[in-house]
Amino acid sequence: MKKENNNTILVTGSTGTVGSEVVNQLASSGHRIKAAIHTQNKADKFKDNNAIDIVNIDYNKPETVADALNNVDKLFLVTLPSPNMTDISSNLVKEAKKNEIKHIVKLSVLGADAEPETILGQVHRQEEKIIEESGLPYTFLRPGAFMQNFVTFFGKSIREQNAFYLPTEEGKISLVDVRDIASAAVVILSGNHSQYENKAYGITGQEALSYGQAAEILSKELSRKISFVNISEESARKGMKEMGMTDWLIDALLELYGIIRAGHAAQITSSIEDITGRKPIVFSQFVKDYSKALS
Ligand SMILES: NC(=O)c1ccc[n+]([C@@H]2O[C@H](COP(=O)([O-])OP(=O)(O)OC[C@H]3O[C@@H](n4cnc5c(N)ncnc54)[C@H](OP(=O)(O)O)[C@@H]3O)[C@@H](O)[C@H]2O)c1
Repeated sequence: MKKENNNTILVTGSTGTVGSEVVNQLASSGHRIKAAIHTQNKADKFKDNNAIDIVNIDYNKPETVADALNNVDKLFLVTLPSPNMTDISSNLVKEAKKNEIKHIVKLSVLGADAEPETILGQVHRQEEKIIEESGLPYTFLRPGAFMQNFVTFFGKSIREQNAFYLPTEEGKISLVDVRDIASAAVVILSGNHSQYENKAYGITGQEALSYGQAAEILSKELSRKISFVNISEESARKGMKEMGMTDWLIDALLELYGIIRAGHAAQITSSIEDITGRKPIVFSQFVKDYSKALS
């Protein structure tokens, strides 16, 4: 039996950095949304919004994936940087196919198709290939480093020590505000925009900055001295271990930091402006907007 068109968009990772922005922006532009929730008590922030239905999901429990994708038209897919994501994506895509999903917008990573492949790029590219092979219409959003990492990963030391620590020397990195990634996703998921189908977009802001330059902008906008401290790979590994990261993820991030040090992470694209029609948010504006979380 042919599925009815109910215009519902399922957002996975809906309580995370990118997914929560996608949910908020889709809801405020009048869409019907299913927010897939992994940890129950994190659903509270959506419960007063009538445009948002809550559905439970655990990628490791296939029955929850099948339930979440039931009666869904489009999917914003956030997966986790882990080595078993390709198995999880295979199951997700199988269910998406059963439910005749009309469009999958997958959050990927900048350089997912680059050679030589990186640990994180490879896992995202394998997931992308699973989607390509399914025959379902897709768009891959491949962002550079999130500006929001300054809150989620470096926020604690910025608040408590006025410093953040990375083994990146003066290498530059293209940063992007997740609000811009979400805006691009909303354009692509809204209406019938076939021009975005079966395409991949590298997503960056307007500028590549070294972490030293980012520290100068943080200091100016927050009116206090914030220092970037270059550290050894060993110290970085120890710090990430203390944060509870797996060895797989630590190796993947140290590889990325090496790429930044070598000056190969400074690529800038025009995708945000091409898709949304406006310039991406600059880092100084991000710092102004998130000054409370950084103080
Ligand atoms: N950070 C960067 O600079 C960067 C740059 C480019 C690409 N990326 C990519 O962006 C993605 C991460 O996005 P993000 O930062 O928005 O993620 P995030 O903030 O870490 O959020 C992850 C989301 O996934 C949910 N989740 C965790 N385990 C789950 C499971 N077993 N089943 C279902 N859902 C689960 C989490 O829910 P709970 O919190 O309830 O567990 C949360 O909603 C990764 O694929 C990464 O490679 C990141």
